[in-house]
Amino acid sequence: MPLAELVSTDPCTGQVIWTGPVGGVAAALARARAAAPGWARTPLAERIAIARAFADAAKAAAEDFARLIASETGKPLWETRTEVASVAAKVEISITAQAERAGERGSESGGVRQQLRHKPHGVLAVLGPYNFPAHLPNGHIVPALLAGNVILFKPSEQTPAVADFMAALWAKAGLPDGVLNIVHGGGDVGRDLAGADIDGLLFTGSAHVGAALALQFAAMPHRILALEMGGNNPLVAWNVDDTGAAAATVVQSAFLSAGQRCTNARRLIIRDGDDRLVEAVLALTDRLIVGAPFDEPQPFMGPVISNAAADGLERGWTGLQAAGGRVLRPLLRARADRPFLSPAVIDMTGCTPSDDELFGPVLQIIRVPDWDAAIAAANATRFGLAAGLIGGDGALFDDFWARSRAGIVNWNRPTNGASSAAPFGGIGASGNHRASAYYAADYCAFPVATLAADALVGGISVGLKP
Ligand code: NAD
Ligand code: SIN
Repeated sequence: MPLAELVSTDPCTGQVIWTGPVGGVAAALARARAAAPGWARTPLAERIAIARAFADAAKAAAEDFARLIASETGKPLWETRTEVASVAAKVEISITAQAERAGERGSESGGVRQQLRHKPHGVLAVLGPYNFPAHLPNGHIVPALLAGNVILFKPSEQTPAVADFMAALWAKAGLPDGVLNIVHGGGDVGRDLAGADIDGLLFTGSAHVGAALALQFAAMPHRILALEMGGNNPLVAWNVDDTGAAAATVVQSAFLSAGQRCTNARRLIIRDGDDRLVEAVLALTDRLIVGAPFDEPQPFMGPVISNAAADGLERGWTGLQAAGGRVLRPLLRARADRPFLSPAVIDMTGCTPSDDELFGPVLQIIRVPDWDAAIAAANATRFGLAAGLIGGDGALFDDFWARSRAGIVNWNRPTNGASSAAPFGGIGASGNHRASAYYAADYCAFPVATLAADALVGGISVGLKP
């Protein structure tokens, strides 16, 4: 039976930029199973050399790669260039991380050697999101390949072209056939993949899909499941001296990537009466350029990924107003048939909005009377990905750090722009305690302990009948 076709379009123009078949999980799994033993036994030095060749290939193709990501996601070219740089940089970071966290250790005592080594799980599925279609799946793929796993990669159905481009770079780097297999499709194909005979699944995406995967995996505790999910991230501004710098940090936290980063600040928590900061945030928001990826001058932010995503955000915006929010800057859609949204700000003080992630350019402001109320508001979410404090002093940040329930807790820095050289993950509905980025090495391999001696040395010295 012929496979159905997937079509990927440029969100800014609606032009088709990629078409291809969906599905094919069983065939991809067979290819992966056939390749798995050989790749697991390939010496680490060879796997590292191929990963380095991939990084070189990504650098050599950097401009084409960045332009493709920009066309398929609508993100500005300046930003997709940084995504490509992160893809290449991930390789050396992952090599260091693997040596440090999943390397070999040993000691010897009385002729007995104690060894710790790691083995790959086997066949790992990687499910990617659309917002960083190269960098985020790459953050699972590179460490998983270094560890000796083979991969079934299902990219977001919104970004298949970027995934194919990345796979071609791996092929160019000399990755053997069957080691990285792409399966295209939407949620139904993702579900099939999760239910296939795989050894684990590495997921980056929304909390509701992550929760569905956790249910699917509940009866299979022997399979690794790493979940990197969304957030309803708070940014607290307290005792701020430099209002201009604070406003820039707020705007970057909230609106970078048109609000389509898991680490974007969704809620700005301020002391009641701190109107200078709000005015500065609004003034800067009014200056942000929203445009297409290749526009000159470059826009600060592009459209959201699709008309369906823009429709969903408009519904979420209506919900905030229905919950009593006071609009400070409206969520405007310049053209009904395109997903360009303006950055929006709404005062939700005293309201009880739903604790959902609005994955777009919407910032909620919450005014509180004192510091304890600020901490309570920051933690009033089922998520726990990123949190930030701007202003205050070291003692205030220490208190914020100690009381914040999140996997990333920043001070005087935006909530986004996480370092690949640090672990990245959240608690609550944001993750399942399998942090990614630098700690991805941990979930890509399992430790095997060995006691070994060159000759048998037997002898029971107690508890024997004469
Ligand atoms: P999504 O959850 O809709 O999709 C992610 C992937 O899962 C896609 O490949 C999709 O096809 C697949 N999928 C969808 N339904 C599925 C199902 N039932 N079973 C198996 N697979 C399924 O996410 P998205 O909209 O592509 O990305 C945005 C989301 O990702 C946001 O919630 C954002 O916060 C989150 N995100 C998290 C991180 C992180 O590292 N914590 C990083 C980036 C994005
Ligand atoms: C993301 O992974 O969505 C955001 C990464 C970051 O900018 O912190």
